[in-house]
This record gives sequence, C-alpha cells and structure tokens, in this order.
Amino acid sequence: MNIFHIVGARPNFMKVAPVLSALQGRPNVAQTLIHTGQHYDVNMSDVFFQQLGIPAPDVNLAVGSGSHAQQTAEIMVRLEPVIAERRPDIVLVYGDVNSTVATVLVCAKLGVRVAHVEAGLRSFDRTMPEEINRLVTDQLADLLFTPSVDGDANLRREGIPPGKIFFVGNVMIDSLVRLLPAARKTSAADLTDRYALVTLHRPANVDDSVRLKGILESLLEVSKDLTVVFPAHPRTRKRIDDFGLNAEQLRLLDPCPYIDFLGLQTRATVVITDSGGIQEETTYLGVPCLTVRENTERPVTVTMGTNVLVGRDPEKLRRELARILAGHAKKGTIPPLWDGHAGERIADILAKSPREPHFNPPAAD
Ligand code: UD1
Repeated sequence: MNIFHIVGARPNFMKVAPVLSALQGRPNVAQTLIHTGQHYDVNMSDVFFQQLGIPAPDVNLAVGSGSHAQQTAEIMVRLEPVIAERRPDIVLVYGDVNSTVATVLVCAKLGVRVAHVEAGLRSFDRTMPEEINRLVTDQLADLLFTPSVDGDANLRREGIPPGKIFFVGNVMIDSLVRLLPAARKTSAADLTDRYALVTLHRPANVDDSVRLKGILESLLEVSKDLTVVFPAHPRTRKRIDDFGLNAEQLRLLDPCPYIDFLGLQTRATVVITDSGGIQEETTYLGVPCLTVRENTERPVTVTMGTNVLVGRDPEKLRRELARILAGHAKKGTIPPLWDGHAGERIADILAKSPREPHFNPPAAD
C-alpha cells in the first residue's frame, strides 16, 4: 500500500511521527511524507522534525504564509500534480490546519482516499478558522480516526456512516509518552520553582489590539505572584511589536523545541494557553491548565482533565489562578486510549482497509 502523509504546521508534526513509525516496516507499505511549508521557520518546523525523529520530507511544497484563501489555494495548486502523478492508495491528514483541508479538497476531487487523524473534534464556533477546516475535512474523509468518544458522537450527528469512524485515541499523546523521559532531563536552571507557562496565538486573541492588551495586562498581574514564561508564536510576537504593547515583566522567548517545551510543561505551576494540543498535554501530565478561550473542541480536557476555560474574563483568570496557588487545583484523570499506542491502532486499521482504486484524472477546464 502506497501511503502519503501530508503535514504543514507545528501541531501536525507530533501527530504524524507515531503514525509514520507504527507503519514503518509493515509488509507491503511504502510511505511518502509531504510538507506543505505552511510553517517554515527553523524553530516552528525543522527542530520538530529533528526531535521527533521524523525523516526529511520527500516533497516540500514551500507555500509559506498568506491569507487563508491564498495559503489554502496555493497548497491545493502545488499538491494536485503530485497526487495526480504519484497516485497514492490513501492520504493521511492531521488535525485542523489549512494544510489539512487543502489536502482533503484535492484528494476528494481526484478520487483518492483520505484518512483524517484527529477527526470529530468540534468547538461549535465557526468564527475559528480551524472549525471550518474540521467540518469540511470530516465530511470528505473516507476514514476518520477520533481521539476521544465525543468525536465519534459529533461525527454520527453530522451523518457520517459509523463504519468510517474509528476511536483510536490520541496520537499526540503517543509522542508525549515517548519523549517524556527526555523532557524530564531538560532543565531551565535560571527558572524559579514556580512559574506560569504561557502560549497564545489564536487570531481571536492576538490579532485584536484591545483583546491582546487585556490579556497581557492579566499576565502582568500574574507576574506579581509567579514568573511568567512566554514562548511567543511569530504571529503573537509581531502583534505585540506592531501594537506597541508592554510585555516587559514577562519572559518572552522564541518558540521552543518540542522536548524543551514538554519539559517546561511538566514543571509548570500552571499553564495559560489558547492552544488546542496543550490543553491535552497538560491533562495527560496532570498540570493545571487555564484556557483563554470561550470554548474548546477538546471537551474531555475539561470534563476529565485539568483544564478550566477562563474565556475573556480577567476576574475568572485571577480567581482560578488563586485557587491553584492555594493548592486547590482541579484534579484530573487521563481519558481512555491516551496511552501511547494510538499510532499502532491506526496502522492496524489501515493494514486491514481495502484498496479501492478509483482515481479521477484532474480535469483541465
Ligand atoms: C496555524 C494553524 C493553527 C495552529 C497553529 C500552530 C491554521 C488555520 N491554523 O496557525 O490551527 O494552532 O498553526 O502554530 O492552519 N509565521 C512565521 N513563521 C512560520 C509560520 C508562521 O513567521 O514558520 C507567521 C507568519 O507571519 C504567518 C503567521 O505566523 O502569517 C501565521 O501563520 P499561519 O500558518 O497562517 O497560522 P498560525 O497562526 O501559525
């Protein structure tokens, strides 16, 4: 079986690594890795490949940044001839980024089967670009691998035939489990015992100057009790500079490599974030997480894990932080099948899935 994996952005890399490795060496499996180039900075991409042990991509589409339409369209234009020429049996896409939806649109029209890893998650908030990507991807995918049972329920409600849906667990946790021993060996010697680890990059939080200023003011408050360590996404760093905002009391860092960031998470007193994946990693690690969003597409992190949604309310952030500092942080449990073996379950299902060649050549007009 000729299997393609398409990745493009930072949160894809820790998801593809375990699936690549679980398929490696299986009989009659050939794998091709394509990087769209959505993320291109060394510290957003290359260092993740190195640390996660992902082989160099076979193809790099080098699309770079742009508006959503530009980026998605550019990926489609550059990917179509590659898929048309090489005709994979199945293409695996990951998560909810523009590279994911662009790939599924190309493959669906060429009649190439697609499997979506991390299917079924829903924030029910269509102002999030990722929610649009999730909805379109899941409608078009042929196999849907879910990380939690809420994903299965969402897909069934949207009319996806149950035979296409497979609850396999969380592939991102596979990478975490594998690299946790290395992460525990990292040290940040100059950090105090207690610190808050912060990440922010959602457009709704960082592209609006008033909103970003409000969040930074809340973080300056936090910094009176705890060191605030803030590895800033390039988008966020740029907005702080463009809007001329004050972040002087915060320890602003460049984006961290995977293992280093995992190490920072394991030792944090609290993580404050608007990321999706970090809500899951903190739940696995049992580290308190305050999510600066009104909703989450990962509800098990709230119902079972350590995550609390604080939304746009600075008062709620203060209150929840005080509770954590007083030693009353929410206790959580690890959701089912977040056990380090999701990649192998995906590989087993792919090995059994029938090959159905139904390739449509690209139409010229
Ligand atoms: C993307 C994903 C988001 C994911 C995030 C993780 C979509 C719709 N969003 O958002 O779901 O959580 O990645 O990081 O796909 N930039 C750089 N260097 C890079 C990459 C980006 O400087 O290597 C800057 C560019 O100015 C770019 C901006 O960051 O315009 C945004 O990058 P983009 O990939 O469009 O979206 P993200 O915000 O990273």
